[in-house]
Amino acid sequence: MTELVDPFARRIQYLRVSVTDRCDFRCVYCMSETMQFLPKKELLTLEELDRLCSAFVRLGVRKLRITGGEPLVRRGIMSFFEGMTRHIDAGALDEITVTTNGSQLERFAPQLYAAGVRRINVSLDTLDEEKFARVTRWGRLPQVLRGLDAALAAGLKVKLNTVALKGFNEDEVEALLAFCAERGMDITFIEVMPMGDIGNEDRIGQYWSLRDLRARIAESLTLTDLRESTGGPARYARAEETGQKIGFITPLSHNFCEGCNRVRVTCTGQIYTCLGQEGSADLRAPLRGSESDAALEEAIHGAIALKPKGHDFDYSRQDVSGRVSRHMSHTGG
Ligand code: GTP
Ligand code: 5AD
Ligand code: SF4
Repeated sequence: MTELVDPFARRIQYLRVSVTDRCDFRCVYCMSETMQFLPKKELLTLEELDRLCSAFVRLGVRKLRITGGEPLVRRGIMSFFEGMTRHIDAGALDEITVTTNGSQLERFAPQLYAAGVRRINVSLDTLDEEKFARVTRWGRLPQVLRGLDAALAAGLKVKLNTVALKGFNEDEVEALLAFCAERGMDITFIEVMPMGDIGNEDRIGQYWSLRDLRARIAESLTLTDLRESTGGPARYARAEETGQKIGFITPLSHNFCEGCNRVRVTCTGQIYTCLGQEGSADLRAPLRGSESDAALEEAIHGAIALKPKGHDFDYSRQDVSGRVSRHMSHTGG
């Protein structure tokens, strides 16, 4: 089977699949408060998701990340994970991972582990209950904290994803680092990206360059850059004093598109070959149109052939340029 290589000679080995547009939270930078969810018939079925992911694995994808919305609110999703383990057992897939808001982990962590998931990323921007309720619009922090405990108890390796937000969690960096160090969790900070319309001023006001955040951390901890990568966009450093790994995802202050190895598929089967561009192609019609996978694979190759060089996100002219109109929840980051 021909492997997936884009026009800039980047090999596509990382697939991110959003399995639902629904979420039990409404993080302010991710979804609008009045999000209209899709009717069920628009969604790929679990069987279609399996066929789609299996096609990507045949085409050379080695890493699969399940996202949402919140992936663990999709009914029956555990059977999908269980099905995917056959690709890991066959040596065709290196890992299947999840990015979750943590709200359902208390219930699902042991099942995730049993289905072959070994590592998860949990989004958490604050350790303050009131602030948590504000940023998620109504989420309950204790529920997520119980979920984290359950994930660690189940044997999952956990990494926190923290969106750096000026005036919101600037004062919590040290507390978040300590929280993770105590639990043996890594943490990755993320620069907020202009996706979905929340107004120019908000984005610029919220934006906190990770260059500055990193310099703040370096005032109290000795950071040594690491060469290792998870295959994702983060660059990692180790804090010598605590031994903990700290990741930095810097789409604005240090563009990493040159090394991009990933594409995204939404829960309706649209493939987006760049998070920061509007272009997409439909994979649902070829999936539903034929029992053979030839048309599907052709459509995947066709989309990869149009993968753009990178995003154009930019806040530097006191204006937000390069914004994309869909919200982050559409592709799950
Ligand atoms: P690891 O496998 O642990 O490296 O995870 P990951 O960083 O690949 O995935 P995760 O879902 O934790 O993503 C963290 C954040 O990185 C999300 O906010 C994503 O939107 C952002 N991100 C991931 N890939 C890209 C990318 O290709 N471009 C940009 N601009 N942001 C990305
Ligand atoms: N900018 C940066 N990260 C975002 N996320 C959601 N919206 C944005 C945004 N606008 C993050 C979430 C989660 C991941 C799926 O994407 O916090 O960790
Ligand atoms: Fe839901 Fe995650 Fe988006 Fe928050 S960031 S609204 S938890 S999908």
